[in-house]
Amino acid sequence: MPALRLTARSTLSVVVVLALLLGTSGCGRQPPPTGSASAPEAAPTTPKVAGPVERIADGPDKLMHGRYLVETVAGCGNCHTPRLPDGTPDPNKKFAGAFLIKEPVFEAYAKNITPDKETGIGSWSEGDIVNAIRNGKRPDGTNLGPPMPFLWYRHLSDTDVHAIAAYIKSVPAVQNKVPKSTYQIPLGNHGPTVTSVPDMPKNNQVKYGEYLAGPVAHCMDCHTTYVDGQIDMKRLGHGGNAFVKPMIYDWAAVSSNITSDKTLGLGNWTDDEIKRAITTGVSRDGRFLLPIMASPLYAKMEPDDLDAIVAYLRTLPP
Ligand code: HEC
Ligand code: HEC
Repeated sequence: MPALRLTARSTLSVVVVLALLLGTSGCGRQPPPTGSASAPEAAPTTPKVAGPVERIADGPDKLMHGRYLVETVAGCGNCHTPRLPDGTPDPNKKFAGAFLIKEPVFEAYAKNITPDKETGIGSWSEGDIVNAIRNGKRPDGTNLGPPMPFLWYRHLSDTDVHAIAAYIKSVPAVQNKVPKSTYQIPLGNHGPTVTSVPDMPKNNQVKYGEYLAGPVAHCMDCHTTYVDGQIDMKRLGHGGNAFVKPMIYDWAAVSSNITSDKTLGLGNWTDDEIKRAITTGVSRDGRFLLPIMASPLYAKMEPDDLDAIVAYLRTLPP
């Protein structure tokens, strides 16, 4: 995998990814509060540990592969599907957009990415969608802004990004007009235009896990701190990003240390404990993690992919 080059845009995206996943506005990254960020007993959305989850199969077929990535590890719907009042995604409005994410320097709406011609991206070609995901450019040449995480997506392989775009073109069109985002920051400095990225071979489990945890799922974006607007690659996976009092909630969540450190990280966890945390949102000690990660989607991942992510996390220096 090419070295990840990330810039200031990503800082915002970390803050906003969380604000967005929590369906909140104005939830910014703050210094971690003192003490531990333990889940309160009465968190209004205590995550449920569901029974066996129906997996979404991956496969060589382009649409099947695209569906797999979008609906599991990449989790595009986390930002692009509106939620019902109980916090679950609206099954009738999949990918129809409408979240408002408010930050001091922007008000961004996750767009309608269904093939609706009028309110979605029905007139875009597969190549147009690929260019938007990777390079943050619309077909009319305008730039997309945060929190769409193109700084990770620019490292998606040709096969994967085209499969994602093809699947997005195949979902049912939903008419849903989404307002324009406004930004008070310059857009478009995502680096040189990416035109081709080779496939990441699956036979190197750790490298593949790194690819999944980075460009595909952007786990590392939430679990790494930033210095002067740049992701601190020396502290990859150290955690420590705090998200304080999002929405109506009275809790703070701090992204965990997921390195191999034996006391602060996952060094003493079994593989099964790590997988349980990722897919069900339950920590090693049985504590419910605050509902920030897309665990319900990660739960549908292929076991091999989950294994690869765990194998990669094991290599993160303590
Ligand atoms: C962290 C939240 C987030 C995630 C995850 C995310 N997006 Fe987005 N996306 C956005 C926002 C916000 C915009 C609008 C940006 C703007 O207005 O400039 C956007 C814009 C887009 C656009 C451009 C639409 C238009 O009309 O301009 C496309 C296409 C798109 N996203 C596809 C995807 C796909 C495919 C995925 C998964 C691989 C994905 N997005 C994941 C937040 C997200
Ligand atoms: C949107 C931000 C975000 C994304 C994306 C994300 N995480 Fe997390 N993760 C968090 C936060 C915040 C916590 C801590 C929640 C809490 O303490 O209640 C957490 C907790 C965890 C834990 C539990 C650690 C512990 O000590 O209990 C593991 C393991 C983990 N994440 C791994 C991952 C992996 C692997 C991915 C990608 C597949 C991922 N995360 C994606 C924000 C994120």
